[in-house]
Formats: sequence, structure tokens, C-alpha cells
Amino acid sequence: MSISSEVNTRQTGRELSRIVYSAEDIRTRVKEMADEITAAYEPEDEILVLGLLKGSFIFLADLVRQIQHPLQVDFLVASSYGNSTKSSGEVNLLYDPEASVTGRSVILVEDIIDSGTTMNRLIPMLEGRGPGSLEICALLHKRVATLDREPRWVGFDAPLEFLVGYGLDYGEDFRHLPFIGSL
Ligand code: IMP
Ligand code: MG
Repeated sequence: MSISSEVNTRQTGRELSRIVYSAEDIRTRVKEMADEITAAYEPEDEILVLGLLKGSFIFLADLVRQIQHPLQVDFLVASSYGNSTKSSGEVNLLYDPEASVTGRSVILVEDIIDSGTTMNRLIPMLEGRGPGSLEICALLHKRVATLDREPRWVGFDAPLEFLVGYGLDYGEDFRHLPFIGSL
């Protein structure tokens, strides 16, 4: 089936080369991840789910609704890409969470790990605030990065293509797509 018969370019704005993960693939995997996270914590753990904006917003929203523990949600804004498909290597923190990290069971939620620059910069910063525990949950991992700390939960090992949809953007476009496609 050609991509154009599956995906309406009125919705995508431009032709994608292929669908990598369908909405159904994502739904199934996110539920499995939420179940694993539920099993990894106790109800009395003070869970703080910290989403990296903007890319994680849809993933985080779907994930937290299926975690069966009390938890709180906050966000970090770190920017490294600008409008390019290549990482600039620099990570700027544009918004810092109000919620205290100290003593909490922090789950850092990331849309995709590519070069690892973002994670390698953020983890020491968050560790410095003395969380009770700190784990990374990434929907996608390209498995090319040398990470100081590997994510505990990964949705999919992603192909080395530029992916968009389900929160991921190219120049701020495509975030709203319910599936993940390749440009
Ligand atoms: P890293 O710092 O190189 O690991 O890149 C992490 C950030 O780059 C992610 O949070 C994404 O926002 C963005 N990114 C990396 N790869 C892709 C991609 O294939 N599509 C869209 N955004 C990406
Ligand atoms: Mg991004």
C-alpha cells in the first residue's frame, strides 16, 4: 500500500516516506510500558513524572493515564535542535520545573534519544537536586548515543531516520499526527 493511500496529505501537510509506528502499535507499547512502570513502584513512592517539552507531550499524556499509582506531573523545556534535523550539541534549559525533585521518585520522560546530548546534560543537573530515584523513560531510542545512563524504559528502538508525529516535530510541524512517520 502506498503511503498516500494511508495518509492524507491534508493532515500531514506534506508527503511522508513511510509510517514507522501506527497509532495502534504505539497504543499497545505505551500500555505495556505503563504496566512495567506501575510494577516498578509502590503506591507510597512519591512519583514525579517530568516530561521534556515539547516532544514528550502526547506520549506523557497517554502514559500517565495508565500508570496505576498516585503521581504528579511537571515539565522541563530544553532546546537543542532549533529548526534543523541535526543536533546543535548545545542544550538550553528554557523552563525549570516548579515541583521539587528532592526525595521524589522521578521519571524523566523523553520522546526520542538521538545523540544523547540532551540526556547527558539533564541527568547530572537533576541528580544534583537529590531525587530519591531517577529513571529515564523514552518512547524512541536510536541506539547511537553514548549515554552516561541508559533509559530504564524504551518504547521502540528507532531506525536512523528523521521521525515525526505523536509529539515529534520537524520545524514545529507534524506533532499532532497520531502515528509516527519518517520524512
Ligand atoms: P539528542 O539530544 O540528540 O539525543 O536529541 C534529543 C532531542 O532531539 C529529542 O528530544 C527530540 O526533540 C529531537 N530529535 C532527535 N531525533 C529526532 C527525530 O528523528 N525526529 C524529531 N525530533 C528528534
Ligand atoms: Mg524536539
